[in-house]
Amino acid sequence: MLEGRKIEGSGLGGGPRLSGVAGQLPPSPIRKLIPLAEGAERRGKQVIYLNIGQPDIPLPDQILDAFRGRVPSLLAYSHSAGLAGVRQSIARYYRGLGIEVDPESEILITAGASEALWFVLRALLDAGDAVMIPEPLYANYVGIVRMVGGRVVPVPTTIAQNFALPDIEAFLSRWTPEVKAILICNPNNPTGTVYSSEMLADLVAFAREKNLWLVADEVYREFLYGGVKTRSLLTFEGVEDHVVVIDSFSKRMSLCGVRTGLLVTRNRQLYDVLLRMGQARLSPPLLGQYLVQLILEEFSWWIDRVVEEFGRRRQVFLEAVRGLPGVRAPVPQGAFYVFAELPVEDSEVFCRWLLTDFLEVGGVDTTVLLAPGAGFYVSGGRGCDQVRIAFVVGVDRLREALEVLARALELYPHKRESAVS
Ligand SMILES: Cc1ncc(COP(=O)(O)O)c(C=O)c1O
Repeated sequence: MLEGRKIEGSGLGGGPRLSGVAGQLPPSPIRKLIPLAEGAERRGKQVIYLNIGQPDIPLPDQILDAFRGRVPSLLAYSHSAGLAGVRQSIARYYRGLGIEVDPESEILITAGASEALWFVLRALLDAGDAVMIPEPLYANYVGIVRMVGGRVVPVPTTIAQNFALPDIEAFLSRWTPEVKAILICNPNNPTGTVYSSEMLADLVAFAREKNLWLVADEVYREFLYGGVKTRSLLTFEGVEDHVVVIDSFSKRMSLCGVRTGLLVTRNRQLYDVLLRMGQARLSPPLLGQYLVQLILEEFSWWIDRVVEEFGRRRQVFLEAVRGLPGVRAPVPQGAFYVFAELPVEDSEVFCRWLLTDFLEVGGVDTTVLLAPGAGFYVSGGRGCDQVRIAFVVGVDRLREALEVLARALELYPHKRESAVS
């Protein structure tokens, strides 16, 4: 099992040397504790997985039955940008959001948002180039930026300000000529923050002034709570040639495993390059395209259903997490994460303890797997008392998980000094 194992810079076991980049890839904070969780399960304990942003909502039979009828007998490669009909369905979905996109020359379907991110960052950055990203950040951005030889310039956001997008001065003071792009995630993973239209407008003006690419990861677009509003970067005028939107059906359709996402850009030159990358990998996954098209065209209520379920979970979460003594947790306005500060010295030690010693306490047979906060920062020393909690299980299981967390915080022997009553 390679999850969480450290990779050395030189060849393993005396074989040929790996690339320099290989040694710079960080382990995923979301997955690094999985071996401990598996160990706990082998000892007969139950683990509630709140570490990974994977919706657990099964597709209804209605959709599955309809899908079975649509699967062709020849499972061939599709067009490298995705099937033309599916791109048209996606363009109609965007029109429903008030955004006109040309399915022929502005949409490229990919193996999830992950492949879209990889293509885009590969196309925008040369070795040594930098991309500014508000932090805490979606940890895989760091891995992908490093894979293309680039560097992340983190722009700090703080729990005290609910992780709001920082003022432009914060971007300006970190800007250097090596910075080629700004990457934002809105609604945000890992913080659940939704960026205001005003802040986005400032960012757009800054990108224009400095002639930067603006990459917006909008995979959580529909996950907005309590009437909060935001805007897609595709709706801003005057930056059409700067903007690339990263998108995915993994979250809003609860389809993580089908690997269907996309990117949208109106910059024709960039699109042509991205299409060549698409051609180099031949085709996005075929079956996911048919399934996504079916849902967009005939079962669009499914997206509302998924989002509503997360709204219920967020409610349960808020009631329970915010009542935990010593825990500071901003109210998530979007996505399905809470980025919380715990009354512990080191959240990774606490997360490991949850999967080991805590389970030796009499009567405890269920625990939770959380993602330690430090892995969502590039800046060393930040996030050490924070965790990301994903509300990705049903409300009953979520209540149980939060009770487990409350009990664990009571019993934990290494609470922060100021938190010990
Ligand atoms: C912000 C963000 N972007 C991209 C992805 C990757 O999504 P996909 O499954 O479409 O590759 C995730 C998955 O967790 C995510 O949270």
